[in-house]
Amino acid sequence: MTHPSTEAEAAKKPTLPDAQSVTHVQHWTDRLFSFRVTRPASLRFRSGEFVMIGLMGDNGKPLLRAYSIASPAWDEELEFYSIKVQDGPLTSKLGTLVHDALLPCKRLWFLATGTGFAPFASLLREPQTYEDYDEIIITHTCREVGELTYGAELIESIRKDEMLAELIGEGFHEKLRYYPTTTREESPKMGRITDLMRSGEVYADLDVTPLNPETDRAMICGNLAFNLELKEMLEEYGLEEGANSKPAQFVVEKAFLD
Ligand code: A2P
Repeated sequence: MTHPSTEAEAAKKPTLPDAQSVTHVQHWTDRLFSFRVTRPASLRFRSGEFVMIGLMGDNGKPLLRAYSIASPAWDEELEFYSIKVQDGPLTSKLGTLVHDALLPCKRLWFLATGTGFAPFASLLREPQTYEDYDEIIITHTCREVGELTYGAELIESIRKDEMLAELIGEGFHEKLRYYPTTTREESPKMGRITDLMRSGEVYADLDVTPLNPETDRAMICGNLAFNLELKEMLEEYGLEEGANSKPAQFVVEKAFLD
């Protein structure tokens, strides 16, 4: 990826054969932004995977980080959704959540905090998600209301997406349930999703049965404390963690790199 601030700078810096251009940047809050870049013709990926992207450093060496791809596999461009790190050269998160790690089932939960929404932004636009499950529930917990906007707008656009409707089938979006919550700013639904699961509030609100290995699969992607706490909770519900090499009942976002 290249993003030179001036043409002179661009001329000075070496580029790589797989250099791409930034086509769009949007700031959602003072902590979150998303951006789109051109997609190398040769790049193939599965929805929910990550790629290494970077900026060319002043020393002529690229500074690379792993980023979850927020766009679906069929998109012409690549989209990323990320936090901003003050003075950080690049900020990142790993995303390895792919369908292959889960055994077939009826209902799929995407459980996200903050920019952990990114791999789900990709998977929510992946036809296989709707082919494999009758119901997809995405929960997104953020500190503030503004941090929910990226996800809320994406869900809204998916519901109206005619191309997806043609690809997957009319009414596909009726399978999709969206459950946003905030923890530090007033909103219609407040609280950490973990607490709302413990109290049973989320199940009552959505009018669904609690998580159960017979009926549910889950993908977790959020901050480290959230990932660890939810992993433990899902195991208490009787779900087993899976991997691409050994599919099971839930998967967790593997790592953070900052
Ligand atoms: P809280 O405000 O109560 O800490 P962050 O921006 O720090 O990554 O956090 C994103 C969201 O994840 C926040 O709403 C935060 O809630 C929530 N969160 C942090 N840790 C946990 C956890 N262990 N379980 C559930 N939610 C968590």
